[in-house]
Amino acid sequence: MGVYREVSPGVFSVGVIDWDRRLFDELIPLPDGTSYNAYLVRGGEKNALIDSADPPFGRALLENLERLGIDRLDYVVAHHAEQDHSGSIPAVLERFPEAKVVCTPRCRELLEEHLKISAEKFETVEDRATLSLGGKTLEFLYTPWVHWPETMVTYLKEDEILFSCDFFGSHFATSDLFADPKIIYEPAKRYYAEIMMPFRAIIRKNLEVVDPLSIKMIAPSHGPLHADPSFIVEAYRDWASEDVKNEVVIPFVSMHGSTRLMVDYLTDGLIARGIGVKRFDIAVSDVGKMAEALVDAATLVVATCTVLGGPHPNAAHVAFLANALRPKTRFASIIGSYGWGGKTVKAIQEAIPLLKVEVMEPVLAKGLPGEEDYQALDQLADEILKRHQELGIA
Ligand code: FEO
Repeated sequence: MGVYREVSPGVFSVGVIDWDRRLFDELIPLPDGTSYNAYLVRGGEKNALIDSADPPFGRALLENLERLGIDRLDYVVAHHAEQDHSGSIPAVLERFPEAKVVCTPRCRELLEEHLKISAEKFETVEDRATLSLGGKTLEFLYTPWVHWPETMVTYLKEDEILFSCDFFGSHFATSDLFADPKIIYEPAKRYYAEIMMPFRAIIRKNLEVVDPLSIKMIAPSHGPLHADPSFIVEAYRDWASEDVKNEVVIPFVSMHGSTRLMVDYLTDGLIARGIGVKRFDIAVSDVGKMAEALVDAATLVVATCTVLGGPHPNAAHVAFLANALRPKTRFASIIGSYGWGGKTVKAIQEAIPLLKVEVMEPVLAKGLPGEEDYQALDQLADEILKRHQELGIA
């Protein structure tokens, strides 16, 4: 079951809230659930559905359209081929066989491949093309890589609504139709970190695409709508900038306590030097929180015990993930403890080739850390402070 709600005259939210989902892409924790937003734009002559829903929710989407009294659908706008938005398009086309799928040529290819939608169902659009529904004009704007290559957004000119799909979205299940900026900032930042951060440079270009528009409302395809568009646009401008903050992110794992002692010592030393610390026990903590912390931090220190001659697999996992997310982090180091040897430093360094970081001298202790190890951690904290001061952030 779902509900539809009017967001502007003739524009309805017809998507579905997924209150209970706890994992996305079988990877990303969803502590607050999510939603698959879809919108129905009712023009004087034609109707358009904007995006659909994850396949298990196709029926709820169709029920919303039925309750709204939609008995003819002219267009389904597919902003993005990922199945959480496109996956119910086949069900929509079965119910409304007259509808055409409106998308970029690249999106058409992906929808043909992933969903086996037949060629005659498509009407591809060029960048800046418009489509009149009768008193409602849709303008399509190409915004590649937010976060697949085929993505576009739609601007409803008369109502000044930007339908942005994943761009500006958040995994946040709520009954509130509109976002409270104080509440949505953190889920939106986390979403940015997990989904958008690897494409920072192109996101800045896409912000330039939407900047000239007069926007009263941003309607994303996950999470609540933004009645205050400048709030989320400015947040994106900040996150996607190359500015880093005077912070160190420390993901750590410690089997018998030695690495934890080193992390505690380094944490205190950094705080004493006026540097912010965000640390995560990666045996139990949520990788989404770590990804969010990496949006801003100048430095990453991976702390790991040694398992079978290399880093703990959890540490290797976070290094691999950080590498894939490509944060703007400038400096990195590795600390930890080992029993009799190993190639921890080499393995972690090799896991982060995409991070444009200067790697600072690692600190590895044999067994319990001793005086020399603590001195080395003091030197590392001094070095981090010096680098942050050189950037003008400490
Ligand atoms: Fe929400 Fe990239 O799909």
